[in-house]
Amino acid sequence: MHIAETVSATRDAIAAWKRAGETVALVPTMGNLHNGHLSLVREARRQADRVVVSVFVNPTQFGPGEDYDAYPRTLDQDSALLREEKADLLFVPGVDEMYPLGGNKTWVSVDDLGDHLCGANRPGHFRGVTTVVSKLFNIVQPDIAVFGEKDFQQLAVIRRMTTELMMPIRIVGAPTDREEDGLARSSRNGFLTAAERPRAALLHQHLEQARHAIAAGERDYRALEARLARTLGEQGFQVDYFTVADAHTLVPAGPRHHDLVVAAAARLGQPRLIDNVTISLL
Ligand code: PAJ
Repeated sequence: MHIAETVSATRDAIAAWKRAGETVALVPTMGNLHNGHLSLVREARRQADRVVVSVFVNPTQFGPGEDYDAYPRTLDQDSALLREEKADLLFVPGVDEMYPLGGNKTWVSVDDLGDHLCGANRPGHFRGVTTVVSKLFNIVQPDIAVFGEKDFQQLAVIRRMTTELMMPIRIVGAPTDREEDGLARSSRNGFLTAAERPRAALLHQHLEQARHAIAAGERDYRALEARLARTLGEQGFQVDYFTVADAHTLVPAGPRHHDLVVAAAARLGQPRLIDNVTISLL
C-alpha cells in the first residue's frame, strides 16, 4: 500500500493506474478506523480495481466548541488495518496540503438539504463536508466513491452535489455497521464511559420503535417524535432531534411521503451520537 501525504504524489500514483485502464474507488474518512469504515473499503474493493482511502480530520466541518482537537488520530493503527484490507493507496494530507492558501475562500454548498437535522445544530458543517469532498474528488478523480448510510444526511448532500455539479462519479451508499446491541459503530463511541456504553444502544432501539409504530400504521409523526424524544431524554440523552423525514428532501414527513427516514442525534455524556433507520411505505 502506498502512503501519500501530498496531492502530487497521490495524483502520480492514480495517473499510472488510469493509464493502465484500471478503475478507481475512493473512500473518504477522518481516520480512527473501525469495522464500519472497513466495510466501505470492502465494498470499494468489490466495485473497482484500485482502492484509495483518505484520512483527513477536516477542520472546516467542525464548529467552534466542537471536538476537532479531541478527535481521535490513530494513523499507525489505521494504516495497519488498511494494509490488511489490501487498500492500494492511503492519502493522509496535512491541513496545509488541503487548504494551501490559509483561510479558505472557495466553498461548495448544497442549499436546504444541509439545513435540516444535523445542519440545524451544526451551521456550516455540511459546507465543510461538501468542500473537502469536492477537493478529494478533484485530487483522486475516482470512478466511484463510497459513503456510509449511517450519515444519511451527508450521503444525501453528497449525492445532490455530485449530480448538480455533473461530477462523473458514481456515489455508492453502504449499510450501517452495528455493534451486537445495535449501536452504530462510530469513532465517537470511544468517548462513552463504561456506564454510558450499554445505554447508548437505546438510541437505535428508539429508532426501531418508531419504525415499528409507522409500519403498524402510526401517521401522527410529530406526536411519535415527541414521545420517543421524551423517553430518550428520560434515559439521560440530550436529544438534538428525533425526526421522521422524507428520505429524499429531509423535510419533516407528512401523509404525502412514502420513503421515510427516522433520524436522530443525541448527546450521551460527552459524545454526540447519530443514527437512522429507513422505511418504505409502498
Ligand atoms: P467519518 O466519520 O470518518 O466517516 C467516513 C465514512 O464512514 C462516512 O461515509 C461514514 O458514513 C462511514 N461510516 C462511519 N461509521 C459507519 C458505520 N457504522 N457503518 C457504515 N459506515 C460508516 O464522514 C466523515 O468521516 C467525513 O464527514 C468525510 C466524509 C470523510 C468528510 O470529511
